[in-house]
Amino acid sequence: MTEQTVKLTTPGGDFKYPLLPGSVGPDVIDIRNLYGQTGEFTYDPGFTSTAACQSAITYIDGDQGILLHRGYPIDQLAEQSSFMEVAFLLLHGDLPKKKELDEFTYTISRHTMVHEQLATFYRGFRRDAHPMAIMCGVVGALSSFYHDSTDITDPNQRLIASHRLIAKMPTLAAMAYKYSIGQPFLFPQNDLSYTGNFLKMTFGVPAEPYVVNPVIENALDKIFILHADHEQNASTSTVRLAGSSGANPFACIAAGIACLWGPAHGGANEAALNMLREIGDVKNIPAYIARAKDKDDPFRLMGFGHRVYKNFDPRAKVMKATADAVLKELGKTDPVLDVAKELEHIALNDAYFIDKKLYPNVDFYSGVILNAIGFPTEMFTALFALARTVGWVAQWNEMISDPEQKIGRPRQLYVGATQRDYTPVGKR
Ligand code: ACO
Repeated sequence: MTEQTVKLTTPGGDFKYPLLPGSVGPDVIDIRNLYGQTGEFTYDPGFTSTAACQSAITYIDGDQGILLHRGYPIDQLAEQSSFMEVAFLLLHGDLPKKKELDEFTYTISRHTMVHEQLATFYRGFRRDAHPMAIMCGVVGALSSFYHDSTDITDPNQRLIASHRLIAKMPTLAAMAYKYSIGQPFLFPQNDLSYTGNFLKMTFGVPAEPYVVNPVIENALDKIFILHADHEQNASTSTVRLAGSSGANPFACIAAGIACLWGPAHGGANEAALNMLREIGDVKNIPAYIARAKDKDDPFRLMGFGHRVYKNFDPRAKVMKATADAVLKELGKTDPVLDVAKELEHIALNDAYFIDKKLYPNVDFYSGVILNAIGFPTEMFTALFALARTVGWVAQWNEMISDPEQKIGRPRQLYVGATQRDYTPVGKR
């Protein structure tokens, strides 16, 4: 097959650039030689048209509402798989055989404890500290405990660091919660599932046995699967950028957690539930829809819209069904779920949202479920970070193993002052 090229006409002449095909999805124009040949950069704030890497992990078709992990559709994984299996899939590229899955699950369960010294970090935080503030700190601090798995040139050390991160995130997140309510930390119990263990460390107390509810365990496991990876989103790109300098994996994941915290990204589930509570009643929805459409009002419908999905976020569909299942199991009714469903219905029939292709995203219903299970809103993004750690470490490993990997170093369009001479302070 002859290589396809794209012709670029610049003031300095015409240049040809190779068009690289992916296995599916848009081709990319390889402009690596652009600056060297033309002396010009490209300008793309927010990287809306820029592929920063090759990746074989996750594929999204935002127009069709398709999300595939290693080729498998997200709804099949959410319905039929488990978070441990998806973690193996993302890390290693294929679904595990039974023995591989058992070994992987065993390995993860044997890394769930954290160093006792790490527990003292928690006491340095205020009791009302946001769990994401704690997570940024304690995950970064892991680097100082595991010097035997920070040589990023050694694939075995990379794998051990990945296992440690996946295994310890539930322990660290549960400890953040326990600290906020003044209860003692609970040790992990390795014969429970990954998700059951997290539920126990979060909601159990040492004074009595904790029985994991399989419906809740299953729902939370699904939520973890739905958040496991999402190709080159802001936090994953942050992990890659931090890792591109050779930083250790614990520091890179701490950077990802910091990025995820923002309300335009992982913080949206917390913001979405707060918004639904603020709306409070179905009768108040039209006023909020009007605010969302008002150009002079900064208000946005949280949990709506996505940079990539210009169709239904496939994860939102699974999330909506899970919300119904959890509320039924718990015998709860939640007016917030009624507000959410009605808001979705009204927005999806409104010209503003139709024209701008704004659909509910994964965060629109997840808050309702997490709230019903008993998680305070401040924990929502920490749960997202827990699940996304799997994607982050898979993407980080892929990047380090990529022979084309370089330190990430974007360029800029400089619009500041041109060279001028310094004047002493007394003469200004
Ligand atoms: N409510 C009302 N209007 C919206 C919304 C919204 N939630 N989202 C986008 N718009 C409008 C914008 O005002 C803009 O209108 P304009 O063209 O008239 O200026 C247009 O739709 C495009 O919006 P952008 O912000 O340019 O789109 P972008 O791709 O940059 O943003 C984002 C995507 C950040 C997710 C945005 O839709 C948003 O802020 N949504 C609410 C926050 C949210 O739910 N984030 C979760 C994302 S999913 C995740 O991280 C897991």
